Amino acid sequence: MLGRLRCIPFLLCPLSLAHAQTAEYPVFEKDKIPAAEYKARRDKVKAALGANGLAVFFTNPVRNRNNDVDYRFRGDSNFLYLTGFEEPDAALVLAPGGFTVNGKKVTEALFTNVSDPMSITWLGYRMGPENAVSLLGIEAAAPNKDFANILFDIKDAQLYRTRIPEGPTDTLATMVTGYTNWSKDKEAKGGLGTLLEEMRAVKSPEELRLIKHAAEASARGHVEVMKSVQPGMWEYDIQAIVEYVFGRWGCESVGYPSIVGSAANSTILHYEEDRRQIEKGDIICMDAAGEYHGYSADVTRSFPASGKFSPEQKAIYEVVLAAQDAGIKECRKGNSFRAPHEAASKTLLEGLKRLGIIQNDSELNRYFMHGTSHTIGLDVHDTRIRTLAPNVVLTVEPGIYIKAGSPCDKKWWNIGIRIEDDILVTDGDPINLSAGAPRTVAEIERTMAKRGIGNISVK
Ligand code: GLY
Ligand code: MN
Ligand code: MN
Repeated sequence: MLGRLRCIPFLLCPLSLAHAQTAEYPVFEKDKIPAAEYKARRDKVKAALGANGLAVFFTNPVRNRNNDVDYRFRGDSNFLYLTGFEEPDAALVLAPGGFTVNGKKVTEALFTNVSDPMSITWLGYRMGPENAVSLLGIEAAAPNKDFANILFDIKDAQLYRTRIPEGPTDTLATMVTGYTNWSKDKEAKGGLGTLLEEMRAVKSPEELRLIKHAAEASARGHVEVMKSVQPGMWEYDIQAIVEYVFGRWGCESVGYPSIVGSAANSTILHYEEDRRQIEKGDIICMDAAGEYHGYSADVTRSFPASGKFSPEQKAIYEVVLAAQDAGIKECRKGNSFRAPHEAASKTLLEGLKRLGIIQNDSELNRYFMHGTSHTIGLDVHDTRIRTLAPNVVLTVEPGIYIKAGSPCDKKWWNIGIRIEDDILVTDGDPINLSAGAPRTVAEIERTMAKRGIGNISVK
């Protein structure tokens, strides 16, 4: 809401108001990742940079939605991973050779918005540089207006390629312009992308704690939806119920727009409209998960609107479930990242042939056209890996999607079924973090026979 706020305060705020010394910054939640862990991550990157290396990380720009309304801000995941700093208009500089901030020689600095009477009245709490030092354990922090000048003073550094935000706005634009002018004559070496991908792939105990919370919240949302669904409800009713549960578990956001596809919509992989009214014989494919303190789960369940699977829905469901079981079994350390996909694909292929839906191997991708797995973390589609290792979390999500008009008996048409769970790789057996959501036909039908929070009238 910046546009409107930008002009009105002058009517209300005398321009002579002094800046606060240290920003008022209440910490409401105590279960975030500790500052020491962020510091250890930055130290690892600095060690990789070497004495003459330098890297600059920007967070995301604020993105406009319409007129003077912006989308709710979400920071860049690499930036969040290294700082834990969740506000816009910020940059992190890492320079192991040292540079000067506020008269002090440091190897890292965070540049942030400052808190002042106007921002605190109109926009909310800002951490501000002083609090960033004490709360995030960063060596130094300064107002973002000082970013370019401090950067200009770093002379003998070799720049590592930095991702520059697209379409930056306001303060971030000024910082990016300062940065690009300054960096033009610096030689850029390879990116830090691979190092960060490797670091982010293997989760720390603190990260696992947050992912587990997101996965449990998501599973609980799926349970509540299964209990609540009735023909006549709208897809958006289901979306509201599942997202209500995420919110009650403290999730700040969904990890991605909730997909609630009924009947033909169940066969659209990323259907996000959620506007159709649900009918009795429909299958519903719901892919929805919460994001907690930056970490996203990714959970899909498919269930019948009436509470009882039709014989055709059940037959397809059992094939997908068997494929998921086969995929989960392959989530073991040392296995290739592709192992779950290969196992799940083989089971889907055999199942579709057995049901007479396909005859040849080459037909599988008509009904199963996506990968089985991706890692999750700060991004729902997190970093790429080649080999599974302990403390990697990945999805296993086979599916079968049969559109009307497909070359098979029409009794199979408009059935889209995906089952997706979040699997933790360990030293031993894989652990299903989203197991709280019913997965078998019998469990789902038993759950759907109950009543849920969505059955309380709000009209
Ligand atoms: N929710 C997106 C996916 O399953 O990959
Ligand atoms: Mn997924
Ligand atoms: Mn998903």
